[in-house]
Amino acid sequence: MEFNTIFEPFRIKSVEPIPISTAEERGEYLKDAFYNPFLLKSDQVLIDFLTDSGTSAMSSNQWAAMMNADESYAGARSWDRFEKAVKNLTGMPYILPTHQGRAAERILYGSLGSKGKYFISNTHFDTTRANIEFSGATALDIPIAESKDFDSEYPFKGNLDTAKLKDLISLYDSENISAVILTVTNNSGGGQPVSMKNAREVSALCKANNILFVLDACRIAENSYFIWQNEPEFKNRSFFSIAREMCSLADACVMSAKKDALVNMGGFLSLRDKELADACTQLLIITEGYTTYGGLSGRDMEAVAVGLDEVFDPAYLTYRIRSTTYLGKALRALGVPVIYPIGGHAVYIESNKFYPHIPVEQYPGQSLVCNLYQMGGIRSVEVGSVMFGKYDQHGKLIPAAMELVRLAIPRRVYTQSHIDYVVEVFAEIMKTKKLARGLKITYEPAFLRHFTARFEELT
Ligand SMILES: Cc1ncc(COP(=O)(O)O)c(C=O)c1O
Repeated sequence: MEFNTIFEPFRIKSVEPIPISTAEERGEYLKDAFYNPFLLKSDQVLIDFLTDSGTSAMSSNQWAAMMNADESYAGARSWDRFEKAVKNLTGMPYILPTHQGRAAERILYGSLGSKGKYFISNTHFDTTRANIEFSGATALDIPIAESKDFDSEYPFKGNLDTAKLKDLISLYDSENISAVILTVTNNSGGGQPVSMKNAREVSALCKANNILFVLDACRIAENSYFIWQNEPEFKNRSFFSIAREMCSLADACVMSAKKDALVNMGGFLSLRDKELADACTQLLIITEGYTTYGGLSGRDMEAVAVGLDEVFDPAYLTYRIRSTTYLGKALRALGVPVIYPIGGHAVYIESNKFYPHIPVEQYPGQSLVCNLYQMGGIRSVEVGSVMFGKYDQHGKLIPAAMELVRLAIPRRVYTQSHIDYVVEVFAEIMKTKKLARGLKITYEPAFLRHFTARFEELT
């Protein structure tokens, strides 16, 4: 029998106090931060849903392993444990440790990419796209059509459109396609999962056309849960064996360990091909560190080795996915327009539907982000025209494809009562929805403006 209460499968041994503030105080903090929650101090935040990356709570076993770490420059015991854990998951012979996911991306895509080359993905994450474009290559996104229908219940909206992949292979020729990248789960596509069926089809197409198939495995454990839940063939399989099977389909794997390896810093690149591994190892040594530590200390590698085991614990994964779904469903029940089905690590809200009276030029998502902070101390992030908007030659905003707000949930950090509090804050915000105002940008940098842009409230 399953109880309604989400059972957190851990006891809390060490606590970090959350400084409590009032809505009036937060109004002042927000003004001082120019209505951009990235510019807030974390002590001014009650519930931090800015990101699930590097924000996990580590277990007592991870901390214990860190105390036993070996910090030797070469051939450390901690490297052996890290390498074994990563090989066990990916089944690939060449493992390159990196300080985080984008370093693995820079090494791999920097080696493969150049002008005239193409990379194809369900959706390139922004650092993935940036590394590819920096190499001179072109990044093309081909998510399936269902990914754009926010009300459809289709369980694998993270899938890549294989019919379009076939067309692109005929259009560009396989020798000009450096890699096909499957991001599981698809972060930039609403955190939606990818099915094993889709991964098998992509793998077969890549093999038939001699194209490198890369898995971006940041959230592969969460993805495995959805495969177990929705692909009947996997009902009696362990989450780990599902993840391992998905890795077995790929030629290379990049992972930011800051997500499903349950650590605050770390990443890796794993490869099957020796020649490519040798080329990447050169870059690793030049930019990250020696082959047996990359960008990591011994204690980081220990924490990853333990985290990669803990993340596949059925009790943990059930709690994780249930609590994200719980938040999404509770918000939907209030009438908040959330992307459906709820993904693994975050709940996404359509801010232009939430605030239909605020035009996109006045950033409805940023308005919701600010209101959530002021009302309840909840920090979230706008994923819309503040993040991706561009200007035409007349200085008119070209809006982003979607106006979303993301509530990304750190792993093992918040309890069900924290989540209930968030739902209550939303219920309050709903009451004064019509009074919400838009914002205008008063300062913006040339690149990645959402991090440091400044805003003013419109009257
Ligand atoms: C799908 C995906 N790929 C790559 C990265 C980059 O990882 P990192 O932040 O560790 O550099 C992220 C980070 O959020 C991600 O979500």
